[in-house]
Amino acid sequence: MNKKVYIETYGCQMNVADSEVVVSILAEAGYVQSDDIKSASLILINTCSIRDNAEQRIWGRLKDIGHLKKRNKELRIGIIGCMAERLKEKLLETEKLVDIVVGPDAYRELPMLVAEAEAGHKAVNVLLSREETYADISPVRMDKNGVSSFVSIMRGCNNMCSYCVVPYVRGAERSRNPESIIREANELFNNGYREVTLLGQNVDSFNWKTESETIGFHQLLEKVALISPLLRVRFSTSHPKDISDELLYTIARHDNICRHIHLPAQSGSSRILKLMNREYTREYYMERITAIKKIIPECSLSTDMITGFCTETDEDHKESLSLMEWAGFDFSYMFKYSERPGTKAARKLEDDVPEQIKSARLSEMIALQNKLSIKAKKSDIGKTFEVLVEGVSKKSSEQMSGRTSQNKVAVFPFTGCRKGDYVKVYIERCTSATLIGKSI
Ligand code: SAH
Ligand code: SF4
Ligand code: F3S
Repeated sequence: MNKKVYIETYGCQMNVADSEVVVSILAEAGYVQSDDIKSASLILINTCSIRDNAEQRIWGRLKDIGHLKKRNKELRIGIIGCMAERLKEKLLETEKLVDIVVGPDAYRELPMLVAEAEAGHKAVNVLLSREETYADISPVRMDKNGVSSFVSIMRGCNNMCSYCVVPYVRGAERSRNPESIIREANELFNNGYREVTLLGQNVDSFNWKTESETIGFHQLLEKVALISPLLRVRFSTSHPKDISDELLYTIARHDNICRHIHLPAQSGSSRILKLMNREYTREYYMERITAIKKIIPECSLSTDMITGFCTETDEDHKESLSLMEWAGFDFSYMFKYSERPGTKAARKLEDDVPEQIKSARLSEMIALQNKLSIKAKKSDIGKTFEVLVEGVSKKSSEQMSGRTSQNKVAVFPFTGCRKGDYVKVYIERCTSATLIGKSI
């Protein structure tokens, strides 16, 4: 009989994609994935270190699942991913509950490490790699809808944003062999998937050299788009300093490359951007947004913002708000700055903005974004969008739900369509989160 592994995933889409690789690798050791934590003999937590509160949540969760060990002596618990990489053996010392610690580049060792843990030993591997991309491993899909999936195209990060822990926990940047990427996207399409999201910390710096050619991100994107006009292609994340006009023209040429760009600004103040080591100014960021709006007029825009970074003044904060207002982002992910041990900001700059001010600035920013989101949705009323159907709406079984190319959720009355279909939807009204319309 197969042993059961229960895996819980925190953090970004990269971790979601990695968990699918992990389940695939564990099949070798006789494990099948289960959604029932109580029947599992192995529990893995794929962790995130991006902010302190992300780690705190995971500590809390670990305490919660600890009691399962009292009832089941065979149960093994593993911490994998970014927090495993950051804390290494320390995790075993501080947490008696943990049996296995594995960093993001060592997942191929899992069958061996799990066997060690089953034999009653503690097992650790947190070596980072310059080559590992898991290119040959077919992920076991864990998405719920069977319509959209992630495809990892690179790992690690070579940027050194001063606040960010990712380069330390994910290692150096490396691109995955494009042939294996195309193969995986093709397989997904043949299995009924209609949307792939190409993932990397900085997709614009994708780079693969063969003897005859160099494949950059825009070429890779085009190759994936050419698999079928029925396959939507998304990507995340672009870096403002690297996003090229060639990429924008490639998107404009292919209807199935989605009209949505996530372009994290982090701050609207050039002084703060310099301290963050983002390598662009406010003006440069604005120029890139202007280029997007010109080359892909129907493109939606989203961003990431940090409030209360070291030395941030009210003036700097106002510049962040005014940049958001100017760009008119459709949505944003907004965070309070959280100092991460070992990063350049932690070593060189003082985390000097009081918590209260960070929070107040964040609230103000969220309120602004809500206003912008509603404004953007209202401007969609009266337009018709092609919606990729993802299934029955959560709120009502008579409504279907899907997304527009711009990545906005749209619902419309059931009309005999199935998930994976494309339906033209005329938008009649909206809420703050959803476009509401009818199929035509
Ligand atoms: N590679 C991507 C995403 C990195 S992590 C990029 O460069 O955009 C996702 C987001 O978390 C970042 O864009 C940033 O806004 C936020 N973030 C990263 N480190 C943080 C920190 N120390 N404190 C608060 N937010 C942080
Ligand atoms: Fe972190 Fe910057 Fe790399 Fe993004 S680009 S992962 S923010 S170091
Ligand atoms: Fe978190 Fe690691 Fe992603 S730190 S945001 S899970 S790369």
